[in-house]
Amino acid sequence: MKKGRILSGMRPTGRLHLGNYVGALENWVRLQQEGWENFHMVADWHMLTTGHEDTSRLQSDIYEMVLDWLGAGLDPQRTVIFVQSAVKQHAELHLLFSMLVSKARLERVPTLKEQIRDLHLDEQTISYGHLGYSVLQAADILLYKATHVPVGEDQVPHVELTREIARRFNHLYCQDRPPVFPEPEVQLTHFPRLRGLDGNRMSKSVGNTILLSDSPEEIAARVKQAYTDPKKIRAKDPGRPEADLSELDAEGRPLHAGCVVFEYHRKFNSAGAAEVARLCRVGELACVPDKSQLARLLADGLTPLRERRARYAADPDQVRDIVADGNRRARAVAEATMDEVRAAMGLKSSTELVK
Ligand code: TRP
Repeated sequence: MKKGRILSGMRPTGRLHLGNYVGALENWVRLQQEGWENFHMVADWHMLTTGHEDTSRLQSDIYEMVLDWLGAGLDPQRTVIFVQSAVKQHAELHLLFSMLVSKARLERVPTLKEQIRDLHLDEQTISYGHLGYSVLQAADILLYKATHVPVGEDQVPHVELTREIARRFNHLYCQDRPPVFPEPEVQLTHFPRLRGLDGNRMSKSVGNTILLSDSPEEIAARVKQAYTDPKKIRAKDPGRPEADLSELDAEGRPLHAGCVVFEYHRKFNSAGAAEVARLCRVGELACVPDKSQLARLLADGLTPLRERRARYAADPDQVRDIVADGNRRARAVAEATMDEVRAAMGLKSSTELVK
């Protein structure tokens, strides 16, 4: 007996980094081992909502991301790995759901507001598709009647809207029949916010990340650049692993927000982190050896992922088969749901239409 069905997805951004791993992927793999029924989707249509002009890298970004999923341990036997645009039912359900949500409700979705701010978009020029981002996400989730949606905090508003849509649909169209949709629950992924190696927000475009596919040499080179404690100049100077609250900037933030190398030790070296901090504080651990120790640890930790990834990468046909199979399995579930949706709404099923 499975514990329930989970659905989660990512927009295809190409090769994934450590933040994607601790923020999502690691959790998906854990849920898979714990006996959930996993569906994981490459949200390529969602990708278009903020970048539809240049699609030249879309297919390779999808491929590289799927390799990272497989490398991280998603098992295609147990888990359905599929691409959103290969399952047209997402578009159909998105269209039907779009009747059930007001424009004002969508304008209140906090993630949309944040994107407008962060990407410096003009509210007046937001596309119809972008406004409907969360409606498409609701279709993603409900097509599979997922009971749980494992996501980070930032996605909670989307799952909330999904629940509203499920409730509204069941209320409107299922008076005389069992409800079509469950109200899916958020399964929050708790993880320490990992900063980029330079101490800023982690972003692949800035290059302050470690990719899951990086070699030990690349990892060592990247960790060498990491932000530590600017006041620790000589090896024997005492360091400040944690944020220093005695010196604040004009906005009240600590000038030294903590050593990133230590932050990574805490996440990836939980047994050794306290000793690292102690030696650093008393000036017995210099940054250079501290960094090489961390680099080695990360490289070792990522070795199984990197090797599994390389085995799949050596056989692209196998990867394509895995996705094709996932698409088929996803389509079968999606079409069964759509049959119920069409019947409940008084629309004809696709087979009746051709008669
Ligand atoms: N919006 C999600 C993100 O940016 C990606 C996504 C698309 C998703 N569809 C989903 C996540 C369905 C969970 C469930 O991370």
